[in-house]
Amino acid sequence: MNFYILTLFPEMVMNGLNTSIIGRAMEAGFLHIEAVNIRDYSTNKHYKVDDYPYGGGAGMLMQAQPVYDAWKSVVERTGKKPRCIYVTPQGKTFSQKDARSLAEEEDIILLCGHYEGIDERVLEEIVTDYMSIGDYVLTGGELPAMVMVDAIARMVPGVLGNESSGSAESFEGSLLEYPQYSRPEEWNGKKVPSILLSGHHKNIEAWRRQQSILLTRERRPDLLARAELTPSEQEWLAEYEKSLDFSGEL
Ligand code: ADE
Repeated sequence: MNFYILTLFPEMVMNGLNTSIIGRAMEAGFLHIEAVNIRDYSTNKHYKVDDYPYGGGAGMLMQAQPVYDAWKSVVERTGKKPRCIYVTPQGKTFSQKDARSLAEEEDIILLCGHYEGIDERVLEEIVTDYMSIGDYVLTGGELPAMVMVDAIARMVPGVLGNESSGSAESFEGSLLEYPQYSRPEEWNGKKVPSILLSGHHKNIEAWRRQQSILLTRERRPDLLARAELTPSEQEWLAEYEKSLDFSGEL
């Protein structure tokens, strides 16, 4: 899968993504991630890319022309018009579901804004999706773009190496991941739950599923409401809630 990140800070993006799992997947050829420096496309002799907003207001805006030409360079090189995601707090909140479906694209362009934003006319011309990583405002789109590339890339086959781990983790089926333990068997007076040492895979699987449900209930009850629970799991959970009522927990 190919990612093209249009940015004024290419080193920031590439330094962040070149490491660890994503870096290894790039080396192994599962991913191509490229930062396209918008400033390289400025036609201004001082490589200026920003100017004052018409109508007044604080700060500077990124101008349409360099952004458009940076985008066009990717379109010409790839011979297609990939989805172009503008990362902005005004976008739809990016989710695991978006990560999974975007991982099926062959090419994606991510556009990072800086300063007070980007001239609206070029957004109308090139942007297909507006996406935010959450309801808070960052100084630029680079960190959100890196977050999104990481989340999308790990869903691309081959990137994690181990095919199952992309789907077994938090948010799949709207449940959080179960707790995990490694050696030693006892640390700081705390023992690893004995079922995990039993070697009984079926029971371990059932225990993990119950732990996922309980953890989601405790930390993210909003997610549990849309979790895909079997009728017997729903019954078990109702019994559990009842037992808490009796023991006095609210
Ligand atoms: N740019 C600035 N803040 C952002 C956010 N929360 N999500 C996406 N892009 C942004």
